[in-house]
Amino acid sequence: MNDVINLMLSHRSIRKFTDQQIPQANLETLIKAGQSAATSSFIQSCTIIQVNNCDKRAHLAELAGGQNYVAQAAIFLVFCADMQRHQLACDMHQQPMQSGFTEQFITATLDCGLFAQNVVLAAESLGLGSVYIGGLRNNIAQVGELLQLPDLVYPVFGLCLGYPAQNPEVKPRLPVEVVLKQDCYTDENDQTSINAYDQQLKQYYAARSSNVKQQGWSEQISKMLNKEARPHMLSYLQSKGYLQK
Ligand SMILES: Cc1cc2nc3c(=O)[nH]c(=O)nc-3n(C[C@H](O)[C@H](O)[C@H](O)COP(=O)(O)O)c2cc1C
Repeated sequence: MNDVINLMLSHRSIRKFTDQQIPQANLETLIKAGQSAATSSFIQSCTIIQVNNCDKRAHLAELAGGQNYVAQAAIFLVFCADMQRHQLACDMHQQPMQSGFTEQFITATLDCGLFAQNVVLAAESLGLGSVYIGGLRNNIAQVGELLQLPDLVYPVFGLCLGYPAQNPEVKPRLPVEVVLKQDCYTDENDQTSINAYDQQLKQYYAARSSNVKQQGWSEQISKMLNKEARPHMLSYLQSKGYLQK
């Protein structure tokens, strides 16, 4: 192993932060680390809104389902998939832009994920903690309005950054054999592996210092997937010019 891989393997989300601020120059370095991620066809379609205003933060915390760390973290960023500036690039060269393709939705969204994970990793290397906030999509239209997002820009998730005021245990992931297949897809041994993983996760949840649970992974996921998943998303994305074809 090396220090980078050890850092990756010790990742855990942080949901409680100290009051210590992060110099803006450090944030800009993290953003540059994010920008260094690979980007499909050099599209560079991630825009980040840094939310400083306290009232806006409090409102976003509410819109995300009452996640108070959105208001508390030293820095709160909203990662937006953004094809707006590509419209500008096309206008600059008198090229009509063909937008609305599902492919463009995938690349724009993927860009945000790759960018953000680079930011997270760089932040962790500086001793910072983070948590993604997909909860923003609970009320995505209000989030979009609050941040004055134009067409072709949608908020994918938020990210809290700050110095950790907690030290949670690392959450075990699925066994490698479940996620790494050889030559073709097979789920032959998945159930056995997932059973073992369920036991491991139950032990993790029973032993951890906060939010103790008595569930394995499969039960947790089955209960989540038994419910609708933000059914407003398709119409919202279409209203912003995505997923037309
Ligand atoms: C796109 C995305 C959205 C997430 N949204 C939330 C969220 O709204 N609130 C939260 O507390 N954690 C959120 N998380 C964190 C996950 O719950 C967490 O990463 C997962 O349980 C694994 O735990 P770990 O990060 O501590 O290893 C999100 C993670 C991702 C990648």
